[in-house]
Amino acid sequence: MPALARELAASPHLVAELPRLREAAALGPVVDLACGRGRNALAAAEAGIPVVGIDRDAEALAALRAAARERRMRVSPLRADLESGHGIPVRSGSCGGILVFRFLFRPLAPAIEAALAPGGLLLYETFTIDQRSLGEGPRNPAFLLEPGELRALFPGLQVLHYSEGVVRGPRPEALARLTARRPRA
Ligand SMILES: C[S@@+](CC[C@H](N)C(=O)[O-])C[C@H]1O[C@@H](n2cnc3c(N)ncnc32)[C@H](O)[C@@H]1O
Repeated sequence: MPALARELAASPHLVAELPRLREAAALGPVVDLACGRGRNALAAAEAGIPVVGIDRDAEALAALRAAARERRMRVSPLRADLESGHGIPVRSGSCGGILVFRFLFRPLAPAIEAALAPGGLLLYETFTIDQRSLGEGPRNPAFLLEPGELRALFPGLQVLHYSEGVVRGPRPEALARLTARRPRA
């Protein structure tokens, strides 16, 4: 797959979890945090799940808005800095689903948990420290997960799927993937 097409392709983790995400979307809005140009938000919208895409990069959001308009998809871009200390611009306990792909700001984890509605679903995927030995991608430990860290960041959620390891392909990537649900009671 050419590099650009690869960057615009939805994560296989998101694709695999679309059925669960569709169910969770009935509980409240689905937000894609640090959505970038929205490869995952667009894939969810294509599957009939409206998504609010949040990012601080105005250019990426403009590209997302244009793509959504062209493809007649229900994606709403929203500009916000998720590292500002103000948390996530949604009501506490309101989100049916939260997507976080290739973004790590550890202090945001409690706000992510709290933003989920009871029964709401978190899909998270980002790089682990092993990415450093693969020769490309992020190298700063602030953006790389330690072994077992992703699931530990969300102690109040019920883990439905967790994996860590090198995903082989044209460009190998060391990734942790989590699917977790906020308990209903
Ligand atoms: C590697 S990209 C991942 C984009 C998308 N989630 C994906 O998987 O294709 C990281 C994104 O995080 C966004 N970002 C970084 N820091 C941010 C912040 N403090 N607040 C909001 N977005 C941020 C960047 O603008 C960028 O779009």
